[in-house]
Amino acid sequence: MKVLMLNGSSKKDGNTYLSLLEIGKQLEKEGIEYEIFQIGGAPLRDCIGCGQCSEKGCIFGDDDGVNEFIEKAKEADGFVFGTPVYYAHPSGRIQSFLDRVFYSSSAAFRFKVGASVAVARRGGTTASFDVLNKYFGISQMSVAGSTYWNIAHGAGPGEVDGDKEGLQTMRNLARNMAWMLKCFEAGKKAGIELPKTETGNRTNFIR
Ligand SMILES: Cc1cc2nc3c(=O)[nH]c(=O)nc-3n(C[C@H](O)[C@H](O)[C@H](O)COP(=O)(O)O)c2cc1C
Repeated sequence: MKVLMLNGSSKKDGNTYLSLLEIGKQLEKEGIEYEIFQIGGAPLRDCIGCGQCSEKGCIFGDDDGVNEFIEKAKEADGFVFGTPVYYAHPSGRIQSFLDRVFYSSSAAFRFKVGASVAVARRGGTTASFDVLNKYFGISQMSVAGSTYWNIAHGAGPGEVDGDKEGLQTMRNLARNMAWMLKCFEAGKKAGIELPKTETGNRTNFIR
């Protein structure tokens, strides 16, 4: 089983990465593989709502890793999205990236396990955590929790290593996620079918 993580910071070795790494090291101890996908610092397009992705995948995908991430997501069993906090919200780049990933390919995530992580110098962590968790709720995913909300603190790269409770929260998140993944796998082996959820009703306040 494999967990695919996303580092939503342009700093590839910064505090978000180190928080994800703490999760990854614990996942390995639990017998689960992991990969940390770097969003990087190159220009990244927003979703423009063109709607072409339902047939072709995201039209911008080959330029900035979105379609590559989707291909990896299809093979993964669980996900952790990590973001630095920018003005009390997730980084603009992770929101642009995930809007395009989920709008074009939410099926790659359906009935799988997800968790998000927010890293800040001081404030805005739970607001950012809430934003990332919304991708899971609309995609029929199960969310793994920890012994605190999945947040950690540090300003300059590497400072998060001093947040002992934050890193403990990351390790406990990994333990809980590993347990959920093993339960899902055992359920599949025991013949428990995926839920047959309904589709077709799409209403708004006018129709
Ligand atoms: C544009 C910008 C906005 C930021 N806004 C906040 C903020 O609202 N609250 C906070 O505590 N830290 C804020 N920070 C600090 C980062 O969240 C913090 O340095 C974090 O550890 C960066 O993670 P990284 O090393 O993975 O990039 C901000 C940093 C930047 C560059």
